[in-house]
Amino acid sequence: MKIVTQEAELHSLLSRFQRSGLSCGFVPTMGNLHAGHLALVDAAARQCDRVIVSIFVNPMQFGQDEDLEDYPDTPEEDERALLEHGVALLYRPRVDDIYPTGIKLQTRVVVPELSEILCGLSRPGHFTGVATVVNRLFNQVQPDMAFFGKKDYQQYLIIKKMVIDLAMNLKVIGVETVRLDSGLAISSRNNYLTDSELIQAAELNRLLLKVAERYRENNESNTGNNEKIIEQGIDQLKAGGFLPDYLSIRRQSDLREPIAGDVNLIVLVAAWLGKTRLIDNLEFSIKV
Ligand code: PAJ
Repeated sequence: MKIVTQEAELHSLLSRFQRSGLSCGFVPTMGNLHAGHLALVDAAARQCDRVIVSIFVNPMQFGQDEDLEDYPDTPEEDERALLEHGVALLYRPRVDDIYPTGIKLQTRVVVPELSEILCGLSRPGHFTGVATVVNRLFNQVQPDMAFFGKKDYQQYLIIKKMVIDLAMNLKVIGVETVRLDSGLAISSRNNYLTDSELIQAAELNRLLLKVAERYRENNESNTGNNEKIIEQGIDQLKAGGFLPDYLSIRRQSDLREPIAGDVNLIVLVAAWLGKTRLIDNLEFSIKV
């Protein structure tokens, strides 16, 4: 596995792959890799000849009160895991390589509407930071395919929309969320949870299953009552010790509120458990 920090070095390796006609799959990350990230790497390895991973903790996507300073940095463990999973190239740029004129002067990529709802409401500017860095990484790496986790479903859709709107020549692939046996979605932020919070946190996924099931029953029997289901879900979250940010049922395609006839839906949740903000979602379908 080659490890590069400079864009020039990156280009010379990438052009070697291109000259040999090898397809490239790209997995952008912020490091502190876990089984969720590695599932993206494995998916890329199944579909492409060479896998390229980036590790860059992107300051533009962190709010002022967020955990940028404390973001875990585990370079040796990350390198070992990527090597074991057959990664060809690890790109590890510095902030100055990504934002040479500084973050303030950087041209930004704004994906309207999708960036402003759900997580965008409580994290203003976050998704613009994500789209901006991913756009720059895509332009540097020029992959054939890029892999994103559905754990961050809103992020995945925003990147898909950016790629379509900016006529970028690559395919964006969504990978299913990797979970612990308890159902808890694996996340770097789980490290912040205490032992008892780890047990409590697993309730989040169980709640999504219940909400989806109730919604399906209500709508298939035409009883409506969707607001009631959300209210009930919020109450359950509070009873489970969470401070809910949102619980919402949306369309899978664009995260808008469902309208009559929509069958492919998703229930999404964000909630605080102590000092930790957790997110999760569940895709489901209804019969109409
Ligand atoms: P990061 O949080 O490091 O996540 C990198 C990728 O791993 C994302 O696509 C995320 O959805 C995926 N991922 C995380 N946990 C997962 C899980 N349990 N199952 C499946 N996939 C999972 O997301 C970011 O970094 C950044 O915003 C980034 C896209 C790199 C831009 O800076």
